Amino acid sequence: MPDHPAEPWRIKMIEPIRTTTREHREKALREAGWNPCLLRSEDVYIDLFTDSGTSAMSDRQWSALMRGDEAYAGARSFYLFEQAVRTHYGYEHVIPVHQGRGGENILSRCLIRPGSHVPGNMYFPSTRAHQELNGATFHDVIIDEAHDAADEHPFKGDVDLAKLRAVIAEHGAAIPYVSLAATVNMAGGQPISVANLTAACDLAHAHGIPVFLDTARAVENAWFVKQREPGWANHSIADILLALCAPTDGAVMSAKKDCLANIGGWIALRDPGLAEQARGLVLLYEGLHTYGGMAGRDMEAIAQGIGESVDEHHIRARIAQVEYLGHRLDTAGVPIVHPVGGHCVCVDATAVLDHLPRTELPGQTLAAAVYLEGGIRGVERGTVSAGRDPATGENRYPPLEFLRLAIPRRVYTQSHIDHVADTLVRVHKNRHDITHGLTFTHEPPHLRFFQARFAPAGGADIYDG
Ligand code: F0G
Repeated sequence: MPDHPAEPWRIKMIEPIRTTTREHREKALREAGWNPCLLRSEDVYIDLFTDSGTSAMSDRQWSALMRGDEAYAGARSFYLFEQAVRTHYGYEHVIPVHQGRGGENILSRCLIRPGSHVPGNMYFPSTRAHQELNGATFHDVIIDEAHDAADEHPFKGDVDLAKLRAVIAEHGAAIPYVSLAATVNMAGGQPISVANLTAACDLAHAHGIPVFLDTARAVENAWFVKQREPGWANHSIADILLALCAPTDGAVMSAKKDCLANIGGWIALRDPGLAEQARGLVLLYEGLHTYGGMAGRDMEAIAQGIGESVDEHHIRARIAQVEYLGHRLDTAGVPIVHPVGGHCVCVDATAVLDHLPRTELPGQTLAAAVYLEGGIRGVERGTVSAGRDPATGENRYPPLEFLRLAIPRRVYTQSHIDHVADTLVRVHKNRHDITHGLTFTHEPPHLRFFQARFAPAGGADIYDG
């Protein structure tokens, strides 16, 4: 049993949630086209769809909301937000955006041209979508271990420097930047080491190529560095966060994750020229460069949340809760991605439903089954999320296909997590009762997992005997 510290907070306010009958859930899921993304949240008991914007704010954050300065230009809340980002992430130029993908849009528009090539440590759907929309081809340069659910490598987010060198050798001048993430969401929340991140930056910089970091979960990454990377055990999380950002040229941030806020984000840069260009586009797409689509109160909540996010007691309990769920599934023989990542437990859907072909979307099917069984909403991270190759139009079949159970921060108790584990164990035990997978009945062109609709493949139900 892993160390499971008690939470460093107590509950001051509650939000009622309701359990439902299986019959109710069957009806709701059919109406949602077998896509849990399309369910109403009131039909969900435990919502593990995402850890993004779903965290519980602290009493300090709620009171910070009241101090929001809603001036259109130059709000006091912006300067507080800017200072918090500078202090904890170490970049000079801080440009607010409404959330992560707003920043991805701006950075991609600034730097990518048709024919560009962007290497990265695995893709994230919205990040790659913006790169591709602007004409780039994405190259995955993550280490091979990241594609193996069972491999216990401590830093499965690391860049394979030989792969990066090969992409640079082939496309050199057509690479506007290297796009790295800490942690790597699509690998299951796996961290990158400070040493590897620094080496990847050195390699890119030697060829005049900048590196931008997705810092959405860099605090969680810092926790793993402290636990696993030689030389860092005695450093604070705040220091390690700065060390992760230090070798990079800038960052794109979704403040909806680590920062414990419900909305918001930023682009952070060192180059004043690029910052000027980005501010110009923020004016067009997000809002003035001192609010970027956020209310003043959102910037206050983020500034306060950044400080709370690097608190060792907070991050220790947060990661431990995720590890607890992983441990419970492991001991019951449910196949999950190893090691357990920072924000989620990923159930290996191709292993659970190995009797279904990949064309019947085992990840999406498992998401449906887990909702039917226990009212739990997770999200597919596999073929549906990977979309189609823009060049060939063919479905992309990533090596990993899983059901992601993302844990919101400071929201669920241990008995909720036990309910999740018990449900997964039951679904796994009865997995052969699932006789049909799913196929698309409606397929949107971009980020299709959010709005797609499905039907059981060759039957009326996924449990069709
Ligand atoms: N980068 C990473 C690594 C993310 O996980 C996300 C969002 C984004 C960028 C985009 O940020 O949502 O603020 O626009 N991830 C959420 C998730 C949606 O569920 O993993 P956003």
